[in-house]
Amino acid sequence: MPINAYSIVEEFKVSYKHQVVFTENIFDVRNPLLATTIQELCRNERTKIFIVIDAPLLEAIPILQSQIDEYFTHHEASLQMTACWSLPGGEQLKNHAEYLQNLYTEIDKHDLCRHSCILAIGGGALLDVVGYAAATSHRGIRHIRLPTTSLSQGDGGCGVKNSVNFATKKNFLGTFTPPHAVLNDLNFLNALPQAQLIDGYIEAVKVALIKDADFFRTIERQADALVARDPKAIAQVIQTSARHHILHITRNGDPFELTTSRPLDFGHWAAHKLEAISDFTLSHGQAVAIGIALDSIYSQRTGFLHENQLERILNLIEALGFKCFHTTLSQRIKNGDHLIVKGLEEFRQHLGGQLTIPLVRDIGAQFEVHEMDIGILEDCIDQLKQRTFNPVE
Ligand SMILES: NC(=O)c1ccc[n+]([C@@H]2O[C@H](COP(=O)([O-])OP(=O)(O)OC[C@H]3O[C@@H](n4cnc5c(N)ncnc54)[C@H](O)[C@@H]3O)[C@@H](O)[C@H]2O)c1
Ligand SMILES: [Zn+2]
Repeated sequence: MPINAYSIVEEFKVSYKHQVVFTENIFDVRNPLLATTIQELCRNERTKIFIVIDAPLLEAIPILQSQIDEYFTHHEASLQMTACWSLPGGEQLKNHAEYLQNLYTEIDKHDLCRHSCILAIGGGALLDVVGYAAATSHRGIRHIRLPTTSLSQGDGGCGVKNSVNFATKKNFLGTFTPPHAVLNDLNFLNALPQAQLIDGYIEAVKVALIKDADFFRTIERQADALVARDPKAIAQVIQTSARHHILHITRNGDPFELTTSRPLDFGHWAAHKLEAISDFTLSHGQAVAIGIALDSIYSQRTGFLHENQLERILNLIEALGFKCFHTTLSQRIKNGDHLIVKGLEEFRQHLGGQLTIPLVRDIGAQFEVHEMDIGILEDCIDQLKQRTFNPVE
């Protein structure tokens, strides 16, 4: 029987400009960066700006709200701030659907359109949820990010993804939608508590481990200065981390992760699971530190990474102020298996296709495996526990 087929196949390309700028004092009326970025992006007579801001950031910098008000009053001829709406920061924003629902309600209430501009000011969690709301309202409202944590300035905020969690699974709902600009004000980092400041350092260690041995040496040399909050050291490490993340996304041929290869997710299969097992009491950075430690030991135990290099990695993680072990890592389910191991299949599902785990064969050199030996993994967990509770003096 003849089968009728009628097909139309057209190829089209969409090009993006990915613009990430480091600055200081972004809401000083003498700093034109934000206003000019919005004007170039929206080109309206008077662009509507809807601001969503991290509440703990406002508490940590009491003068910030009045600076924002003054900035938009100064630019009121071209920019119209419709609201400055604050949300409690942190992972709870991604875990509880009502925050996202409320955002949609506000976007609707303020009559925002695709030519308006949503400004997200905060940590990675707030950027993720606001980015998702901006990408899905009216199928995409113009969106600018102002990351305010070291982790979001050096990694997540510079990327092209957004997300919220669903059914205890990290980043289950989300889109690949490049923000129209990312403006990193390094001064915001001064307000971060120490534990959150160091969180950003671990993503720098990660990207150094998979791509850049010189950068790893720089972080080793600067470890004390980083812990002591030296602004020059922080700027150097966060900017280099951001550059590596951005170049990977824009030049590696897979910005929207259509393949299974995810080198930037080194240490993350375990990290995402640890965050969930700990009911998100472990920060993303602390969980990534443990994930990197685990996968580095695995790389050494499977014969790829030299013991001396492993020692350098674990020493640096600890020198920056992280623990390499947390009790959630050895939590077991009824049949005796480690709960963390379930993270492997969840990671596979999230990326799609074949399980692909990045490991390291040297500092600065990454490779991939498609399975992990559970017995060896359990030995690695024991090694980390041993190291943490019986440290060699
Ligand atoms: N979209 C991506 O590509 C991507 C990549 C990496 C990580 N992430 C996500 O980012 C999130 C982690 O982000 P994070 O590390 O920025 O943590 P976070 O957003 O949870 O912020 C940590 C805490 O710091 C507060 N805060 C933010 N800025 C502050 C400041 N300057 N001073 C004082 N307090 C401040 C927040 O309110 C929050 O309580 C995770 O949900 C992770 O999954 C996303
Ligand atoms: Zn991460």
